[in-house]
Amino acid sequence: MSNNRYETIYLWLVGGMLFVFAIAIAISVGGLGINMPTGSSELELEDIASATGLHQIGPNRYEVYMTVSEAGFEPKVVDVPVGAEVSFFIGSEDIIHGFKVENTTLSVVVIPGHIAEVSYTFQQVGEHQFYCHEYCGTDHHTMTGLIRVNED
Ligand code: CUA
Repeated sequence: MSNNRYETIYLWLVGGMLFVFAIAIAISVGGLGINMPTGSSELELEDIASATGLHQIGPNRYEVYMTVSEAGFEPKVVDVPVGAEVSFFIGSEDIIHGFKVENTTLSVVVIPGHIAEVSYTFQQVGEHQFYCHEYCGTDHHTMTGLIRVNED
């Protein structure tokens, strides 16, 4: 028994789409370097917890060590100079939380046992609220903070 003509067409379409998706994944991973957040291999939660806040690591380069728990983010307010490239290293002290900064591309899930790392260059003076965007319990809605981008 042979396939209906439309059946054959749809089978080829589906097969073709799977092929295109596989190619897209290969290009994303191999060519564009898009990966799951791998986190920092050098930092442990204890390193971050003992030195939360902003650290200057070079001209116009900063790192923010941040912890997150059901009690909230630490620090809750981060002051950064405008134009600086800032890397955030975030560790969870209890369960899965999120870190999302409004009006930026910063968005990462913070998984216990794993240091999340995201970077951003703040080009304009202003304020960005950040918050937990993974539902984490009854205090989820209280988990907010503020990044203030200041004149140099
Ligand atoms: Cu932490 Cu939602």
